[in-house]
Amino acid sequence: MRIALVTGASRGIGAATAIKLAQQGCDVVVNYLTNEAAAQEVVKQILGLSRRAFALRADISDYRQVQQMVERVVADLGSVHILVNNAGASQKATLLNLEPQDWLRLVNINLSGAFYCAKACAPHMKKAGWGRIVNLSSLRAMTGSDYGSAYASAKAGISGLTKSLARELAPEITVNAVAPGYTDTEMNQRALAESGDAIRAQIPLKRVAAPEEIANVIAFLASDDASYITGETINVNGGLYMRS
Ligand SMILES: NC(=O)c1ccc[n+]([C@@H]2O[C@H](COP(=O)([O-])OP(=O)(O)OC[C@H]3O[C@@H](n4cnc5c(N)ncnc54)[C@H](OP(=O)(O)O)[C@@H]3O)[C@@H](O)[C@H]2O)c1
Repeated sequence: MRIALVTGASRGIGAATAIKLAQQGCDVVVNYLTNEAAAQEVVKQILGLSRRAFALRADISDYRQVQQMVERVVADLGSVHILVNNAGASQKATLLNLEPQDWLRLVNINLSGAFYCAKACAPHMKKAGWGRIVNLSSLRAMTGSDYGSAYASAKAGISGLTKSLARELAPEITVNAVAPGYTDTEMNQRALAESGDAIRAQIPLKRVAAPEEIANVIAFLASDDASYITGETINVNGGLYMRS
């Protein structure tokens, strides 16, 4: 029985991943920050698949809260084998308008949070002799982002973190990343409402991804089928990278 912790699993890609992992036979802890009702809805769906699940509030940009979250997961479920560092946040702002505290907040959520969660979970995976860490990067890690320097920089940092931890935590634990392009979630709601047609026109597959299409790749990397893949980033962007 594999136990998975998915951060930011109350909605979007994280919710789809939590459900996909449960369909693959995992027990799943659904981490969230503000949206308890949505997190409980995801838990309900997982319990409906006859897997164990509960929702756990923790701000992944706060190491103490991460430690407490992982202690609770291990106390209640016995261990943690799969960590999906999915929680993320973006903010549109120019260099001149982005305040240093917002830069730090975005880097802490999108990069430090992944380090904190990996640091708290890896000893349990080592002890179990098997582990999977999947980090969420972004197309913006490679292309940069207009008015999103903190987000793009943090996601580029995920690439270095992924490769470094892959080297360090082998052979028991694999560490990989998934870099989505435009995906139909709340994070993109405004961009898609304002310029959805232009965005879709640029993408070779002519549509944005469903969260489940990203979750499928995350779940693959978390499975035994991905046993010989580590330190990789899989791009899932409908071909948009070729146009960027
Ligand atoms: N959507 C895209 O097009 C896209 C593209 C590339 C990469 N990504 C990456 O994919 C991941 C998921 O994106 P998404 O679009 O599904 O995002 P989303 O719909 O905006 O959901 C974000 C999730 O992260 C949680 N969260 C935010 N800050 C948190 C914190 N400090 N601690 C714990 N949880 C926190 C939210 O919890 P609450 O609901 O409780 O607030 C929510 O569950 C992110 O890392 C994102 O950067 C997304």
